[in-house]
Amino acid sequence: MFVSLFLLGLCAFFILQLKPPRPKNFPPGPPSLPLLGNLLHLNLENPLKDFERLRASYGNVYSLFIGSKPAVVINGFEAMKEAIVVKATDFAGRPQDLFINDVTQRKGVVMVDYGPMWREHRRFTLKTLRNFGLGKKSMEDRILEEIQHTVKTLEKNSGQTLSPQVMFHNAASNIICQVLFGKRYKYDDQTIKLIVRCFAEMTKIANGPWAMLYDSIPLIRHLPLPFNKAFENMEIFLSHARCLVNEHKKTRVSGEPRDFVDCYLDELENKNDESMFSEEQLRRISFDLYVAATDTTSNTLLTAFLYLMNYPHIQEQCQQEIDQVLEGKDRVTFEDRLSMPYMQAVIHEIQRLANTVPLSAFHCTTKDTDLMGYSIPKGTMIIQNLNSVLREEGQWTFPHEFNPENFLNEQGEFVKPEAFMPFSAGPRMCLGEGLARMELFLITVTLLRKFSFIWPEEAGKPDFTPVFGVTLTPKPYTMKVKLRSNH
Ligand code: HEM
Repeated sequence: MFVSLFLLGLCAFFILQLKPPRPKNFPPGPPSLPLLGNLLHLNLENPLKDFERLRASYGNVYSLFIGSKPAVVINGFEAMKEAIVVKATDFAGRPQDLFINDVTQRKGVVMVDYGPMWREHRRFTLKTLRNFGLGKKSMEDRILEEIQHTVKTLEKNSGQTLSPQVMFHNAASNIICQVLFGKRYKYDDQTIKLIVRCFAEMTKIANGPWAMLYDSIPLIRHLPLPFNKAFENMEIFLSHARCLVNEHKKTRVSGEPRDFVDCYLDELENKNDESMFSEEQLRRISFDLYVAATDTTSNTLLTAFLYLMNYPHIQEQCQQEIDQVLEGKDRVTFEDRLSMPYMQAVIHEIQRLANTVPLSAFHCTTKDTDLMGYSIPKGTMIIQNLNSVLREEGQWTFPHEFNPENFLNEQGEFVKPEAFMPFSAGPRMCLGEGLARMELFLITVTLLRKFSFIWPEEAGKPDFTPVFGVTLTPKPYTMKVKLRSNH
């Protein structure tokens, strides 16, 4: 009996030693448990409400332990700006010990740590995306071409009700495929179906409790548990990317790039000894760009049409502006946004409420630093609660309503408050912002010009609460579509 009690006491002592220490002057936070940290404080299916609750108790900058790893959660515009804009490079790292780092092998661009590899690839990608505006087939042409397929789908369904999920997903997926590989896939193509299934599975695992357990308890990482499926799916994508790159190598003309892969192959041809460009990096960055571009854009479009159907007076006001500005023109251009302040305000308001990437991508401090008076050691994981900025009282005239006036001044001109951060800000800010904004504008305007979208009577009251994930998705809904009388 005495021996058992002694052993139990010894175990308790060692477990308590595993309880992570709180660094000096670290932001406050809830008490944590050995091994698990604060996992029990969070609903792993959707922690957003917990983050708000903890903010109410501990303030705009507080700490949590993900297993034994300390993390700081940043809330509200003031703290967010100080961290990612003012002290930009201090907060520009990415954590390197997560499930997602193992799946991506610390390559690509999104989860690569702050350093030369990331900088070279970010710079190259931004330049390449920008140059498509000047190339033979501009970004705008690629997007407008794809929209015609969406228009055809809607025309076929005019007068009827349809589920828009797959349609918007296909549009976003094909646009980024056009940019990366110069090709689009038919909606029933078996290869793209396989790739889409792989991504869906990977996202589900990365969003779910298995990834959280993988991050928190390193001991389980080599066990045959469901997270291994993500590694298999990654291999499927990489071998598909290898085929596409090989095809490009056979057909490309050096110095005359047709798409992102050709631009990268040109770069490889001219690379110097220190360059960090490689074919493996090309496959990995294609993965990153495809993933980063698809669900984000299609979920924002889904949110757009959910709101536009349920606020028909706003939909009509958009249509009036579109009809007026585009009168006599056969198609919209991105330039037209400058004459459409109301449409711009509506799209921005949709992005504000869609809060598509609610916790951004996790950051990490690159050196010992401080924030709002607290000390944060190098290597601390940083979680940006973007929702807390996008709906912050004091930053918006109507923080809790769908109201385009959040982006209009008294003269009816479009204005963009600094707290508009759906793409984050600072050096790690979304590098596809330009492409995403072009897609959202061209797609929404083209569709609203041609069709009216009606919330089906039988659908009952709309539910605007999204489903949580790395990206927020509106709950599945249906839409009734009607060709407008002037079309
Ligand atoms: C509505 C659509 C989109 C939204 C809301 C969105 C949002 C975001 C956010 C919040 C981040 C994290 C930024 C940070 O860590 O501070 C991010 C990163 C990123 N996004 Fe987007 N994104 C969208 C579309 C796109 C598109 C179309 C592309 C592809 C070209 C793209 C490529 C990337 C990349 C590569 C990063 C990582 C940047 C880095 O680590 O340097 N995104 N995005």
